[in-house]
This record gives sequence, structure tokens and C-alpha cells, in this order.
Amino acid sequence: MKSELVRKTFLDFFRERGHTIVPSSPVVPVGDPTLLFTNAGMNQFKDIFLGKVPCPYDPPRAASVQKCIRVSGKHNDLEEVGRDGWHHTFFEMLGNWSFGEYFKREAILWAWELMTKFYGIPAEKLWATVYETDDEAYRIWIEEIGLPPEKVVRCGMKDNFWEMADTGPCGPTTEIHYDWGKELDPDGVPNASDRFVEVWNIVFMQYFRDKDGELHDLPAKNVDTGMGFERLVAVLQGTRDNYQTDIFSPLIERISELSGHDYEEGGQITMAFRVLSDHIRALSFAIADGAIPGNTGRGYVLRRILRRAARFSRILGVHEPIMYKLVSPLVDKMGNVYPELKKNADTIAQIIKAEEERFGKTLDFGIELFNNIIEQLKKRGERTIPGEDAFRLYDTYGFPLDLTQLMARELGFDVDVDGFEKLMQKQRERARAAAGFDVVHKKKPDWIRITDGEDSRSLCYETERAEAQIRLARAGENDTVEVVLSQTPFYAERGGQVGDTGKLKGDGFELEVLDTQLEGEHIVHICRGDAAKLIEIFRSSPDVIAEVDHERRAEIRRNHTATHLLHKALRMVLGDHVRQAGSLVAPDRLRFDYTHFEAPTQEQLRRIEEIVNEKIMENLPVETVVTKYEDAIKSGAVALFEEKYGAVVRMVKINDFSKELCGGTHVSRTGDIGLFVIVREENIGSGMRRIEAMTGKHAYRYVSNLRNLWAEVERTLRATGDDVLTKIEKLFERIKELEKRSRHSGEFDAAKVASSLISEAKRINNAKLVVGKVNAVSRDELMQVLGILEKELPSALIFLASALENGKAAFICRITADVIRKFGINAGELVKEAAQITGGGGGGRPDFAQAGGKNPEKIDEALKAVLKIIDKKFSNRGA
Ligand code: SER
Repeated sequence: MKSELVRKTFLDFFRERGHTIVPSSPVVPVGDPTLLFTNAGMNQFKDIFLGKVPCPYDPPRAASVQKCIRVSGKHNDLEEVGRDGWHHTFFEMLGNWSFGEYFKREAILWAWELMTKFYGIPAEKLWATVYETDDEAYRIWIEEIGLPPEKVVRCGMKDNFWEMADTGPCGPTTEIHYDWGKELDPDGVPNASDRFVEVWNIVFMQYFRDKDGELHDLPAKNVDTGMGFERLVAVLQGTRDNYQTDIFSPLIERISELSGHDYEEGGQITMAFRVLSDHIRALSFAIADGAIPGNTGRGYVLRRILRRAARFSRILGVHEPIMYKLVSPLVDKMGNVYPELKKNADTIAQIIKAEEERFGKTLDFGIELFNNIIEQLKKRGERTIPGEDAFRLYDTYGFPLDLTQLMARELGFDVDVDGFEKLMQKQRERARAAAGFDVVHKKKPDWIRITDGEDSRSLCYETERAEAQIRLARAGENDTVEVVLSQTPFYAERGGQVGDTGKLKGDGFELEVLDTQLEGEHIVHICRGDAAKLIEIFRSSPDVIAEVDHERRAEIRRNHTATHLLHKALRMVLGDHVRQAGSLVAPDRLRFDYTHFEAPTQEQLRRIEEIVNEKIMENLPVETVVTKYEDAIKSGAVALFEEKYGAVVRMVKINDFSKELCGGTHVSRTGDIGLFVIVREENIGSGMRRIEAMTGKHAYRYVSNLRNLWAEVERTLRATGDDVLTKIEKLFERIKELEKRSRHSGEFDAAKVASSLISEAKRINNAKLVVGKVNAVSRDELMQVLGILEKELPSALIFLASALENGKAAFICRITADVIRKFGINAGELVKEAAQITGGGGGGRPDFAQAGGKNPEKIDEALKAVLKIIDKKFSNRGA
């Protein structure tokens, strides 16, 4: 059975049994800080299980095929991938759910029916496990399904109790395992032998684990099932190795083409094939859903995955980027089921390629570091790589421990694994803190309580001036005092928008607020002043009037609303794949980082700027709506993937043009922005670009400065309008010419020039014809050449031209008397023609004349015209 049909059979089966088919949620979960990546089908239903939202399905049943990534937190399979044929970082999970309705019996009966009747798996190949005390499930397997008791195994917490994360919904499970045959391990049992592969996990979701590890009953008893799609397909396609199913074959084939190796070679080679073909899926799906490799949190995990793949590609002898070449076979295979993959295919490949290129260098440095470590050890006569070094290789250069061990063993060394593990443990703790989005602060002095009561009620959307009481104070860095107020109109820095500045006016003191920052729930005003003295004053007079710097706040508002307009305009002009990757909203400028793989053209930038200004001129109303997260997303609001949102969100709407979830402060109509100017667009690496722009009076000043500068340019160049460009082009040409000249200046050899002219001279009857351009920088040099030619050629027509050092064209012409007589030709006439073409004048006698012109770039044209006249005269007189 092909993988496509396996998915369809599953969904059809549960649809016919009253389940609503729910699409997969993104692998990058939104609004759940306990998770870096979606790790199970049930994630998107968490709030239903917890009773926070009512179940929207009638009957309360659902089924899905969910994209999952298990690389962090409680479910992390990263280091397992490659060792066997059935662990993955990315996999699809087939699942069905009951929200407080059917329970153990139906869940087990349906699972059995689907497995044996629809997928046609022989009943004798299937075993079950149940939670050790779950007599009910045990009974159903034996009495209703008819499994022999020896095929129903009771297991403990480790195997048969499932939890989404350290806290959250959880419950006992029953699992279905497939038996690959007694001969593999005659005494083996499920969960303890590779003879069995766990295919389906059915969780009886009835508890909630709180922060302290305590279990509480959920409002209802639910069913949450999850079947590993890749494992099921492997069973149905008769292989123990998921990588040999049709899901992976296009990837395996491509890797084989690119590396010249064969999947079945075994050992490290086979492992490398698995790692590459697995990791490209996790990377591509994560990037398609908006994650980007980076230095923190989710981005860091992606970077790890990519590095592991890059490292393994070396085992296949591939030292160039290879992963990005696997995107296309992956998209061919899965793009129809997951259109986001198809839509973002180019971006995915480009992001991966950029990462691979960057890491390629790091990897080579890592290998060098490894060699140095070995050298040092040899010198000291030691044979164990310290844990610290192994950790450094792992952490900085992405070398997994087993690689370091392998490389060490090859040279007869080993690794201090305990030391390494200790550092790993520490790092895990750090990563856990990062995953929980805890911010690590430098230790500050404790708050001193000034008055009692709640603090930090935010008035930032309503007013810029308010009465308040100082609640807490403490000394800050660099002669500052930090103050928390009962309520405050000050906006604390967040979401890219800088903190407000302003004043706190009290009885007998006035504080300048330099910045406002958020610390947990406190809004902290950082003020200039002597903390010790001020804190004493606060005790006796805690009342203040808090007043935001209005002008600065107005500027910030302009830039924030303009940022939303810019975001939308970027998507309109460059495409929907453009994602905000960071922003800064300051009073004097705004900065917007976004993902896009090539520089926008001038025309695109101009169009983006134009759209924003059009929207400003339309003077659209800007409204903020507080709404449920789901409703906002349904209405098409843009949410940032890296941001966590609560159940209730603030949505900023600019008419129908833009909708974004945002906590910032905005103008009330777009017209308030005044003017929007892009001042810079640049590449900042890793597939990210940055736009800097200005609004309001800063934009006006920017334009006005440019205009003044332009006036200066016109004055300096003595040209106006488009002529400035022509003039500059001319100057460039001139410089080129001069450079050429200066290369041979001082070494101008008139004799040499003359003799080469003579050798190229044409003979007309007895006379010689020399018409040519020489590299003379002055008339002097030109005359030198002419002097030599006159002596050498008693009967001749000589016409010389040169672009002189002074930027002008020069022509001289000498015609001997016999030639004048015979052909009726006139030197004055010839130089006049040349002068005219080059924008100048001149003349002289029939035997000698000279002229100049302003446009030396037209010398060639002039010479052609002169030759034409000469030709005509000569042929008229029968030459
Ligand atoms: N949540 C369970 C799992 O992920 C069953 O869906 O295994």
C-alpha cells in the first residue's frame, strides 16, 4: 500500500465514524511557550482537554495527520536518528480523538478494526501493552479482541504513560506493537526488544500534571491516539526500515546520485543516508512554517540539526553543500499533501544552502581544533580527550560526542564522557530555561518598597500623562535610580518598540526617565539620579506625575504604524513568503528585518515605498481590537512565529489593508505619519535583509538634506538635472583616459610612434597617406611626431589626432605641395571638418592647419569623416 493511500484510509475510516477531519497545525506552535516544536497530534487540542475552550466538533471527535518534530524537551529523538530504521526528527502522526465522549472500549476496538480489516495486518502479528494497573484495557484486549494473555503485556510509567511536556495533559496508555518474528528474539517482549516495533499509542488522557509534578483530573476523560505514519507504512510495505519505504525512497535515491554511495553499504554510510534524509524533512517543514536557523531557541535547534547532517555528509565524502539539493525531491514527494512546502520551496533551499555554506567552514575549523587537541595530548603523553574539549567541539562546532569518540578511537585515544555529560547537563538546563523564555538578568539589588499596593497598571494606550505613586525603587547602573509606579503611561520596550522617555515630577524633585523596561510584570522606569538620596525622598513624598515625552512618542507611533504598512507592502510586492524577522521602532527611524533571498530591484523598492505613501495619503483609520487569538488568526491577522501570544490578543487594524497582532502604540490615522522614505536596503546574511526607513519630520529632513546635497552637486559639476549624470559619465571616461595616459606619461616616444605610423602608411601614387590617432598628451608631443614624419616623408598627407591631457581633442594636418597640387586637397578644410565633429574650431593654410575640439570621445568619428573627404579627392583625381 502506497503511503498516500495509507493516509487516506486512516482519515476515511474515522470520518465514517463521526470524526471531524482537522488539518495539521504548523510544526512551529504558536502561543505555547512550553513547546519549541509541535510534538504530537494532540497539541492543537490542548486547550480543549484542559477545558479552557469548548470542543467545537459535533460529535466531539476529531482525526488528523499531524506534522511533528521531536528534537527538544521531553520528546527528543535527535541523537537516535540514523542508528536504526525507525527513529525520526520529523514524522507524521495519524491520530483520532474523543473529547470526553467515547473512551477505552471504542478506541481499542476501532484501532483493531482498522489495523486488521482495512490495513490487512494479520492479527497474529499484533501485540498490545497496557499500563500496569489498567485492568479495564487489559480486559478489553483479552475478552473483546481475543488476544491471548501472553500477548498483552503490562508496562510501567516509562512505556505506558504519556505526557506532552513536563507539565500539561497526560494519561496512561495502551499500545499496539508489530511483531517482526519470533526468530529475531524468541523471548523478546514489546518495549524491550527490537523484534517489536510500537506502531500505535492510545492515550487515555485524563490527568493534568502541574508545575510541582502533581496529577489532577482533567474535566473529562479523553482519548488521544497517535500512530507513527512512517512505521505503519514500513509494516505495510514489508520492511523493518522506514527509510526503505516509498516515503523516503526519492531522498535516498538523490543522496545516492549526489554521493556515489549506496544506502545498503551498511555502518556509518547507511547511517549517513538516514540522517540526511531524515533531517532534510525536519528542516524543510520547520522553515516552511516560519522558523529560521539561528542562535537561540528554535533557531538553534534547527542549526544543530543542519550541522549534524552536514557532518554526516562528510562521511559520504561530500564536502560541498548537499542538503539544499534534497529539498526538490522532498517537495515532489510531499508538496501535494503539504502545500506550504511547495510554496516556500525556493526559500527553504536557499536558507539551507546559506547555513551549509557557513557551517562548512566551521566544520573544517572543528577538525583543525580536534587535531590540535590530539597534538597537545600527545605532547603531554595523555590519551584521554578532556570532557571540556569534547564539549567545545560539540557546542561550537556541532560535533556529536560519538563523532569525537570515533575520531579519537581511530587514533587510539578516548574521551572523558563523564566530564562531557556534566557540561551537557548544564547546557540542557540552560536550554530549558531558554525554551521557557526565561530571561536571565544580571543580579540587581532588591527592590525597596516605598508604598503598598498593586503596581504597573499600564495606561500606555490611553494617556501620556498620569498621576501615580512610587511603589518600588532601587539603585540602577551608572548613577540611575529605577522606579516602579502604581500605574504608568510609559511604554516599556517590547515587540521592537523602544521604551518611552519623559519625566516623573514629584514634590521637590523632577526625574528624567531615560528608558522604560519590562521586568516580569513590573514596568521599570530608569531615571537619572542619586539612588540613595532619592529613595529617602520617595519615602516621604511618593506621589508623582508621570509624563511621557510627547514629541518622541508621536515619532515612535508614526514609525510603528509605518512598520505595519511596510510589512504589508513588502508582501504585496515581493510575495507572501516574506516574513518579519525582527524590527526596531525608534523615534528617529524604523528598521525592519525580513526573509527574502535576493536584493529587491530598485523598481520593487520604489513600488514598496509608493504603496506605503499611498496608504498614508488615504488617511486610513488605525484601530486596535482586543480579541481571541483564534479569531484574530481566522480573520487573517499576521502573527509572528517567534512570538508567544496569550488566548486574548491585541490586533492592530489599518482599515482593510493590514492586520497584525501587536502590543505597540500607533497613530490614529495613517495621515499622521506624514511621509515615509526608505533610506537603506541591505543584506544582513542568512537569507535575511534589512530595510531602514524614516517617517514624519525625520523623513522630511532626510529628503530636504538630499535636495540640498543635490544642489551642491549641480553647483560643483556645473550642470543641472539629467546633465549631471552625463557630466559624471564624461568625467569617468576622462579619468579612464588619463589613467591610460599616466601609465605611459614620461615615456612618450615620438620616434616610435612615428615609425609605427610610417609602417602603416598607405601609398597613393608616389605619396604617402598617414591618418591616425596617437597617444600624445600635449600639442607639443603631437608636433614632435609630426616633425619626424615630415622629415621621413618628402611627399605626404599627414593628419594626426590626439585626446590631450587637458580633456580636449587636437588635430594637425600637413600636406606637401606636390600632393596639394595633384589632388587639390586642403589641410584647412580637413581640420575644420574634424573640429566641427568634436565640437570645436580651427583652421590654417592649405599645407598646414591645426584645430581643437571639446569632445575627444568623438575623435574616431572625426577621423572617419576626414578619410572620407580624402578618399573622394583622391578618387576624383584618379589615384
Ligand atoms: N500523544 C500521544 C503520542 O504522541 C498519542 O497521540 O504518542
